Amino acid sequence: MGRNPAIAIDGPAGAGKSTLAKLLAERLGFVYVNTGAMYRAVALLWKETGEEPEKIARHLDFEMRGDRVFVGGRDVTDLLYTPEISDLSSKVSTIPGVRRALVALQRAQREKYPVVMEGRDIGTVVFTDAEVKFYITASSRERARRRKLQFNDPRPLKVIEEEIRKRDERDSTREDSPLRRAPDAILIDTTNLRVEEVLRLMEKFVREKLKNIID
Ligand code: DC
Repeated sequence: MGRNPAIAIDGPAGAGKSTLAKLLAERLGFVYVNTGAMYRAVALLWKETGEEPEKIARHLDFEMRGDRVFVGGRDVTDLLYTPEISDLSSKVSTIPGVRRALVALQRAQREKYPVVMEGRDIGTVVFTDAEVKFYITASSRERARRRKLQFNDPRPLKVIEEEIRKRDERDSTREDSPLRRAPDAILIDTTNLRVEEVLRLMEKFVREKLKNIID
């Protein structure tokens, strides 16, 4: 057996990556890996324990079961998607030692399964040899609108949009593995597209590329 195929999905916050990656993985029968949840888990444990983020990342016992995220066997899903953890996760993700540890965990997943992996650096760092790479984006206003709906966020749209912009700015300008489009990534702007339309497009690209591997 050769190495398992990997589909890389990158892009800024709120572009629709998670929804698309999850559905695409289901359709292909691949394992879905949400790397943002790993950075969020490190941020949560950092907030709870005050330990060094590098140390937390090196010992992270992370598992996803369906939609739920478990850390050390504890279901932490509902604690990960708050404005505070969004901000802290973006901060811990600038630390090279944290990235090294989490990238190793991410690569280990592909040793076991074919993966659809989403994040910020999957096509540029984690799997530069991914079979297919996507870069998913949308206008910042639209991304703010989606976040507001997804998390039932009561704050004004303008405030959420500003927060998203700040996080994108930090994620794109950090020194280690900044968010950027890999030259060979397929760019999809989802601002005016429906999930089903984008998904169909993505699936077509993947099936064409992997036609000898999947049915
Ligand atoms: O995808 P998300 O919004 O759940 O990710 C949370 C933060 O984690 C994001 O602001 C940047 C960081 N992140 C990263 O640096 N690299 C990844 N592969 C995934 C997420």
